[in-house]
Amino acid sequence: MLLDRRTPLYFSLCAFVFMLVATFPALAEGVGDGPTIEHHLGQQEIESGTIPLSQLVNDGRRLFAAKFNRFDGQGRPGTTGGGAPRVSGSAPPFIRTSAPDANSCAGCHNDPVVGGAGDIVANVFVLAQTLDPVTESVSPDFSNERNTLGMQGSGAIEMLAREMTATLITTREAAIQQAKATAMNVTRELLAKGVSFGSITAKPDGNVDTTQVQGINADLIIRPFHQKGVVVSLREFSNNAFNHHHGMQSVERFGQSMTGSHDFDQDGVSDELTVGDITAATIYQAALNIPGQRIPNDGPRARAIVRGERSFARIGCGSCHVAEMTLDNPVFSEPNPYNPPGNLRPADVGHSVTFDLTSEGELPRLERSHDGKAYVRAYTDLKRHNLCDSELTHFCNEKVVQGGVPTGDFITRKLWDVGSTAPYGHRGDLTTITDAIYYHGGEARTSRDAFFASSDEERSEVIEFLKSLQILPAGTPSLVVDENGNRRRAARR
Ligand code: HEC
Ligand code: HEC
Repeated sequence: MLLDRRTPLYFSLCAFVFMLVATFPALAEGVGDGPTIEHHLGQQEIESGTIPLSQLVNDGRRLFAAKFNRFDGQGRPGTTGGGAPRVSGSAPPFIRTSAPDANSCAGCHNDPVVGGAGDIVANVFVLAQTLDPVTESVSPDFSNERNTLGMQGSGAIEMLAREMTATLITTREAAIQQAKATAMNVTRELLAKGVSFGSITAKPDGNVDTTQVQGINADLIIRPFHQKGVVVSLREFSNNAFNHHHGMQSVERFGQSMTGSHDFDQDGVSDELTVGDITAATIYQAALNIPGQRIPNDGPRARAIVRGERSFARIGCGSCHVAEMTLDNPVFSEPNPYNPPGNLRPADVGHSVTFDLTSEGELPRLERSHDGKAYVRAYTDLKRHNLCDSELTHFCNEKVVQGGVPTGDFITRKLWDVGSTAPYGHRGDLTTITDAIYYHGGEARTSRDAFFASSDEERSEVIEFLKSLQILPAGTPSLVVDENGNRRRAARR
């Protein structure tokens, strides 16, 4: 039935349509479904130094906590978590085993706060992401199950590894020069910050015998990240992780696909994460607070912590879990000179992005020495060890080789946050610290046996000491606090 133009109904309808048009003009930008990350960062703007560190950290945290969606480019229908092309149709938008397995980095790294460690439910089936067709199996035949680590303090860890690498490479270059000059083999111990990584023998022809190198790769680059010790920098890890867990590709790693398109994973979104985005995500992680220690002012627990630390050293735990190292230059700089191809490197930038780990970033900060260096109390030697022998095999459960490293080798776990990061062990399948110590066989057998030969009281004290090493709330003014979070005199120095 046609509406008669003279009726009141006709006029009121016209008025209604007019009102609608006046009230809802063209759709406003950003209204409705759209990308979680609306603003991407320019590397040049960051390098120009006009963005304060606090803002860069906030931008990085935003990327770390963002729950990516398909407008951002979440998912990778055309490629695997390793970046290889995929068999078409084999890519579910989410799959717990092969990934994409989470909405955000913070979906796993959130204990006790964003940037931290994770519950066993957040475990990753490492290397399943490279399989295609994807696997739904959690069998150790296909992947290595690992528990989430916390990134608090990781800026200091990356810088320690860089300084140690520089020392080892200098040692190698000097040995090569000497071998050439003397026409004789030259053997040198590989010593960095007091940790021995075996030795090398330089030959007069410039070749180097690396068969005696221990706990690191033959290229002498210390890779402090992954429990396997196979990743150089927070940046390299982030480029891997954004693609692996979320199907979000960075331009610096996945700039163009095989077909020359910028939509590397064929999900309809190009250039998903800019170089600046990865810089911000890296700086955020590097600037997270340094783990500290909580010791009650007095009472039996306070005394147990002090005594437990002494026992920890006495029974040899500190031979791998090195209590303290000195960072000669406490300035974090991005990017890392040892980054492999596919990650931003110093030659790619006009200016490095820098900040001082002792004075800038989230409190508490690294402690500065009187001569401008900094103390890093991470309880690791950044070296890989094998904790298995014929009796104790718990830490040798893995079957899939990662980064060419023998399956039984793991980097000495940092213990500076161990009081905040239960569960324990690389798989997170141990619920108490004592259980984790129990399975220390192989290279750690002597100190492990010394621990279990100690009295009940001594053992409890070691555990109480380890429990005191914690991720303190961001903004805590001091690295050592009492039960109320107030500054406390360091009992162990
Ligand atoms: C599904 C859970 C999960 C998600 C999502 C996740 N991670 Fe992780 N992360 C882990 C696990 C598990 C490890 C330990 C891996 C190992 O040791 O092999 C880890 C380790 C790391 C490390 C190395 C820390 C160290 O000390 O060795 C970095 C850096 C890191 N993740 C960054 C990220 C970033 C950035 C994102 C987001 C793009 C992210 N992760 C998303 C679970 C996750
Ligand atoms: C030979 C080197 C070495 C020695 C000695 C050693 N550790 Fe470890 N420790 C490691 C390595 C490597 C790991 C990682 C094991 C894994 O998860 O695969 C580790 C892990 C741990 C963990 C688990 C932490 C976590 O968050 O999961 C604790 C706790 C620990 N060690 C305490 C000790 C104590 C206490 C001693 C002395 C009795 C000791 N360690 C001696 C190398 C060593």
